[in-house]
Amino acid sequence: MKYNFLGNTGLVVSELCFGTMTFGGKGYWEAIGKIQQQGVNDLVKMAVGSGINFIDTANVYSYGESEKLLGQSIKDLAINRHDLVIATKVRGRMSEGLNNVGLSRYHIFQSVDESLQRLQMDHIDMLYVHGVDPKTPVEEIVRSLNDIVLTGKVRYIAVCNWPAWMVMKAIGIAKQHGWNQFAGMQYYYSLAGRDIEREILPLALDQNLAVMPWSPLAGGFLSGKYTRNNEKAGDSRRDSFDFPPVNKEKAYDIIDVLAEIGKQHNVSVAEIALAWVRQQKGITSTIIGAKNTDQLQANIKSTEVQLTEDDLKKIDEVSALRKEYPGWMVERQSADREIKS
Ligand SMILES: NC(=O)c1ccc[n+]([C@@H]2O[C@H](COP(=O)([O-])OP(=O)(O)OC[C@H]3O[C@@H](n4cnc5c(N)ncnc54)[C@H](OP(=O)(O)O)[C@@H]3O)[C@@H](O)[C@H]2O)c1
Repeated sequence: MKYNFLGNTGLVVSELCFGTMTFGGKGYWEAIGKIQQQGVNDLVKMAVGSGINFIDTANVYSYGESEKLLGQSIKDLAINRHDLVIATKVRGRMSEGLNNVGLSRYHIFQSVDESLQRLQMDHIDMLYVHGVDPKTPVEEIVRSLNDIVLTGKVRYIAVCNWPAWMVMKAIGIAKQHGWNQFAGMQYYYSLAGRDIEREILPLALDQNLAVMPWSPLAGGFLSGKYTRNNEKAGDSRRDSFDFPPVNKEKAYDIIDVLAEIGKQHNVSVAEIALAWVRQQKGITSTIIGAKNTDQLQANIKSTEVQLTEDDLKKIDEVSALRKEYPGWMVERQSADREIKS
């Protein structure tokens, strides 16, 4: 396992982060995973044993069950809390209560207290806003995030799933007031969904923000078990829903190329797909998910795969984004600022 500094901070995290969305199995999350305490302990033990020090959960995963199971596993396994970087999130609806949702100051403060209780911890290392709240002004969100850090209950703040302009607006507000700023960003990024290359990755590189890709296997689609002739894998999350949404025809073409490269490296399609995300510029820690220890072991092993220039070129040819405006105009106009030798 290798380690990286997290963006513009002195914090060190493993190049893989362990995602816990498969823990619990309540409500919407039932189809994603129903892992209970013993299974959770086995997975956390394997992740931490492999050198992973970064673990990702959310208040909303299985309505708090994921946080509870994770916190208990750290106790059960007697893992030193200070050897871990624990990330959780706020935004999702936690009950029918009028204010038990969103990014108001009210909900951010309430949510952090409840997460800490479920995790059995006295601080959260990284608190992400889990998405956009169109009703709370960005100024209120940024100020509340600054203030929650000042309470000592949260060490770093970060953002998921916001459009680039809104992230930059929040950074501008924080800078103007000397408030705590986002240290990193968590976005969907896989070979079947390279959209963040348009605006989000350039923003991250410009502002030196850490990038933590989620669903690097497109929710399992890029694991190798789905093919044109086998669209159901049995007891798998994507059998019942298409999230993140995938353009299947294009994804099958990508899987064909990954399978060919996998054969040359003697590893699975999943390992090649994960190695690709890990090797992209600006990526800090790829958030892997697993429903059992076999999957987790395979995904951890992907860190041993080093794709060659030739592999990367072949993968890019089949998966690159269609050029969109203003990207193609930026590319054209940048060309005449190159110094010709
Ligand atoms: N911020 C956000 O909005 C957001 C959104 C989503 C996720 N996340 C975070 O990102 C983490 C990872 O997301 P994800 O679980 O969607 O990641 P993923 O790697 O795209 O999908 C993981 C799923 O793929 C299947 N799988 C994984 N490894 C496999 C292998 N080696 N062979 C065969 N199948 C395999 C398993 O599901 P099946 O066995 O059911 O096929 C597993 O649960 C989550 O736990 C969460 O922490 C964040």
